[in-house]
Amino acid sequence: MMRTRKAAAALFVFFLVFAATLSAEAAKEKKKPHVVYIKAGHLFDATSDNLRDNVVITVEDERIKGVDAADAVKIPAGAEVIDLSKAWVLPGLIDCHVHLEARADKLDPIEDVRSTPFKGGFAGVVNARTTLLAGFTSVRDVGSSPFFAVDLRDAINEGFIPGPRVVASGPPLSITGGHGDMNSFAPAVSNYLYPEEKDFAIVDGPEAVRHAVRAQIKYRVDVIKLMATGGVMSQGDQPGAEQLTYDEMKMAVDEAHRAGRKVAAHAHGTQGIKDAVRAGVDSIEHGSLIDDEGIQMMKERGTYLVADIYNDDYILGNAAKFGLPEANIEKERKLGRLQRENFQKAVKAGVKVAFGTDAGVYPHGDNAKQFHYMVKFGLTPAGAIRAATSSAADLIGRKDTVGTIEAGKYADIIAVTENPLDRIEVLEHVPFVMKGGVVYKDEVGK
Ligand code: ARG
Repeated sequence: MMRTRKAAAALFVFFLVFAATLSAEAAKEKKKPHVVYIKAGHLFDATSDNLRDNVVITVEDERIKGVDAADAVKIPAGAEVIDLSKAWVLPGLIDCHVHLEARADKLDPIEDVRSTPFKGGFAGVVNARTTLLAGFTSVRDVGSSPFFAVDLRDAINEGFIPGPRVVASGPPLSITGGHGDMNSFAPAVSNYLYPEEKDFAIVDGPEAVRHAVRAQIKYRVDVIKLMATGGVMSQGDQPGAEQLTYDEMKMAVDEAHRAGRKVAAHAHGTQGIKDAVRAGVDSIEHGSLIDDEGIQMMKERGTYLVADIYNDDYILGNAAKFGLPEANIEKERKLGRLQRENFQKAVKAGVKVAFGTDAGVYPHGDNAKQFHYMVKFGLTPAGAIRAATSSAADLIGRKDTVGTIEAGKYADIIAVTENPLDRIEVLEHVPFVMKGGVVYKDEVGK
């Protein structure tokens, strides 16, 4: 008796599951894909340095379905068409070095004491939208308070707020008193303001690094950021000075890579750059004082250089009026020019370059102003665009989904109304932005 009842119950459950599967299948079948045809007059798909003319990009829901010569595509009558036949179409741009929590009109260190974390949250909502509308459909956020960038990433992915795809780090790992620490306040103030820093960010010795990397991964970061040397915007340290040791960075890289996370190292100083590269980081951020040996090492290991060579203009031109202390501006005066010259050397030597600007130090949305300098200091226009598309996608570990216009990738697509290979600065004004098949901006011809 018991047994038959059990068998009947099992049969009933089986039937329920079967019915649920059937109706899920039916629902799937009912939902027709949303198909859009984009007529691209000129296409830079970032799989090569060349343009193609008269192409139709077929977008199905959030992905690219096909990229074909216009005369090979039969667009059905009544289909949805986006006419960019007079425009230059490119993959959505990628900035590998931003801080979406930060505002460039709040550079006084006292801001840290005055504000609650909510301030950064509000800034992030606005900055994410501004960045997307400027044509940047993916960013890597390399440093914020715990765990702003992770939460922002999730809110954008849920569709709750508009923004680029975010590859999120946690707070950068820094030595006590280093570029990532709060150095200009009384001990009680720093400890009170950032109680979690001890757990996640301020590290002394490899074991502390091991713990911080694991803790950050526990809280779902995508990438680990290290402060290999001092910096410009921090108090009481020097950009040229090494901070994290080789052993500390090696530990960070081993732990991160074991968990499938990449490592980005802030490094201005000559020795810190080399030790970070030797430790196996995936990218050197800034790279200002790199020497020939460092360039050679990066080239051999395929380490990316992410040099924020627009920043200098803004820091020397505007930062004083937004509260940046003179000591920091003085550090910039010594560094900015050298960084650009050394970037040029690295480019000439064939070091891999990805686009990253440090937006947040200067206003979000102005990211593309850096293209001018990348071309002035050695890249071809096509090379600069690929640094911000296919190469950036490779560095951030997303080359299967973003960075080029190819079938299968997300439909992250922008357009401009002049040839960017003739005048790269046209990217400073992007009138068409699509991310994941959704149009966020369409002002072409308006
Ligand atoms: N976040 C960097 C730092 O404080 C900004 C460096 C800006 N200067 C430059 N020339 N890239 O060190």
